[in-house]
Amino acid sequence: MRISPKMKKAINDQIAMEYGASSTYMAMASWCEVTGYHGGASYFYAQSTEERDHMLKFVKYLNDIGATATIPTVKAPASSYKSLEGLIKTALKNEQAVTKAIHKIVDLAHKEKDHCSYAFLEWFVNEQVQEETKFEDLLQKFDLIGRDKLAINEIDKILASQAGATDSAA
Ligand SMILES: [Fe+2]
Ligand SMILES: [Fe+2]
Repeated sequence: MRISPKMKKAINDQIAMEYGASSTYMAMASWCEVTGYHGGASYFYAQSTEERDHMLKFVKYLNDIGATATIPTVKAPASSYKSLEGLIKTALKNEQAVTKAIHKIVDLAHKEKDHCSYAFLEWFVNEQVQEETKFEDLLQKFDLIGRDKLAINEIDKILASQAGATDSAA
């Protein structure tokens, strides 16, 4: 194993976090679908796939470096949301927590002079900047366009147009 047991644990914990994010976005997409937000549904189904790709990147990294990835069970996510705006606020909060977690692993890599992990994590540091910006921009739309039925419909259309634009980790 070319990384420390502590780093192995930190990355395995991150696998669980990405898995949780994938599952949460799947639940959000499903809620959007049954609520009639079809743009939101496409958008969050794509987000769910993206998080699964992140999970896979971490799994492959651990296996490649001679540590073994652990595939965890994932806690059931919330299945209903008060509003589309509330849902996106939750998504932003989740991304902020993921950013914190990734920065912590970067700190550990730095402390341990683990250059392999440090270089590997760089992609995620940049990705998190985009992830937070994405949801901040969407939340700003509610201030710009409004919160009445027509405005929400417009925001759902924006989500539809951005569903295919999520960058894949593949
Ligand atoms: Fe992620
Ligand atoms: Fe994310």
